[in-house]
Amino acid sequence: MTKLSSIYICQQCGYQSPQFLGKCPQCDSWNSFEEEITGGLASTRGGGIKGVEKLSEITNLADIQKQVYARLSSSIDEFDRVLGGGIVKGSLILVAGDPGIGKSTLLTQIALNINDGGAVLYVAGEESAQQIKIRTDRIKQKNSLPILNHTNVDVVCGVVDKLKPSLVIVDSIQTMETEDLTGVPGSVGQVRECAHRLQRLAKANHIPILLVGHITKEGSIAGPKSLEHLVDVVLSLEGDSANNFRVLRGTKNRFGATDEVGIFEMTEIGMMEVKNPSKLFLETRQNAPGSAVAAILTGLRPLLVEIQALVTKSNLPSPRRTGQGVDNNKLQLLVAVLQKRLGLALYDQDIFVNVTGGLRVEEPAADLGICMAIVSSFKDKVVAAKTAFIGEVGLLGEIRGIRGLEKRTQEAKKLGFTNVISYENAKSLQQAARLALG
Ligand code: TYD
Ligand code: MG
Repeated sequence: MTKLSSIYICQQCGYQSPQFLGKCPQCDSWNSFEEEITGGLASTRGGGIKGVEKLSEITNLADIQKQVYARLSSSIDEFDRVLGGGIVKGSLILVAGDPGIGKSTLLTQIALNINDGGAVLYVAGEESAQQIKIRTDRIKQKNSLPILNHTNVDVVCGVVDKLKPSLVIVDSIQTMETEDLTGVPGSVGQVRECAHRLQRLAKANHIPILLVGHITKEGSIAGPKSLEHLVDVVLSLEGDSANNFRVLRGTKNRFGATDEVGIFEMTEIGMMEVKNPSKLFLETRQNAPGSAVAAILTGLRPLLVEIQALVTKSNLPSPRRTGQGVDNNKLQLLVAVLQKRLGLALYDQDIFVNVTGGLRVEEPAADLGICMAIVSSFKDKVVAAKTAFIGEVGLLGEIRGIRGLEKRTQEAKKLGFTNVISYENAKSLQQAARLALG
């Protein structure tokens, strides 16, 4: 008789241990371990050296024809672009985001678009068909969409195998379960196993599968990190509750670049694509002290964003530096550079920086814009009209070159920012401040 072996897995982070542990050594959670059966002891079966007879299975890369991926269009340009040109057939795509951000809305729209041409299967584990109907009615008046209200992943696989739809949407992976495991839906074991089975299904039938994934309170995708390893593409839908903009970002993509973003606006009738985000982001801008415009690049697309800063006298022993849409460490560093190189007395000032529109700016090219917004607020002086900033700021206060200057400048000029300050006309922070603030 083959012996069954078991393993204990942390339900928070996926850490594996051969014995039960009260506290996870990786993520420090308590009582998070659950036992899982791992099947027969594979390593003790058969034994001996294998593989000699498999020499013929080695392939030479030179003999492999380059494959062009067959893609399916979602009819939503912003979504297709983030994926690198559409949904690759047979791929498993995870769409992650906070609850209520619009994942189901976006995927329902895609389902309705594609269902016009070929069959789509919408697997609803969270909502009833009634609830989905209410949503589709908001999005499109006349609609038809096959819904499978089931949480058993094996039933889903069976149905897909039979129906062979052109796209499957699983909302959400955390509600799926297989009876082969004892864990509850959403546990690490269940999530991973269900995703595994869907992955095999996608590959075998050449059907793309879109999975909805939730984000935990801590901000990571609920379920194990291994879920991200398992899927081909991870898209995250972000945005803040204060406005209706939503940013779709690829964090992993086996078939394309990951620096493209898609921008949407949540409206009464679903998620609408934002075709000219720069214009929209700057529409309500007032040129007041603390406001600066930076030109960033997301993938190949230049984008103009407004950076706002508020610098006020602090009554704390260690003043605050808080960034929204800007990395906090980056902010600390830029403040230190401003203090040292421009001689600004920022040491007793609270500094808040915000990128409007809920966008997150990670590019060094936005450094100069961030610095100038801070200087503008500190000095209570308005940045010269029609000015946009492009440039990375070094520790010596120098302004450095960045990629795509031409493209960014063009976008800025297109939107009426005739005065572009970059390393071409300012070599240091001092020079840039003089040009922008007089
Ligand atoms: P939903 O797609 O259900 O979010 P998720 O699946 O990510 O949890 O979106 C829920 C929110 O979006 C809800 O507050 C209602 C709002 N909404 C709109 O504003 N417009 C719409 O057309 C739809 C369908 C939803
Ligand atoms: Mg949902």
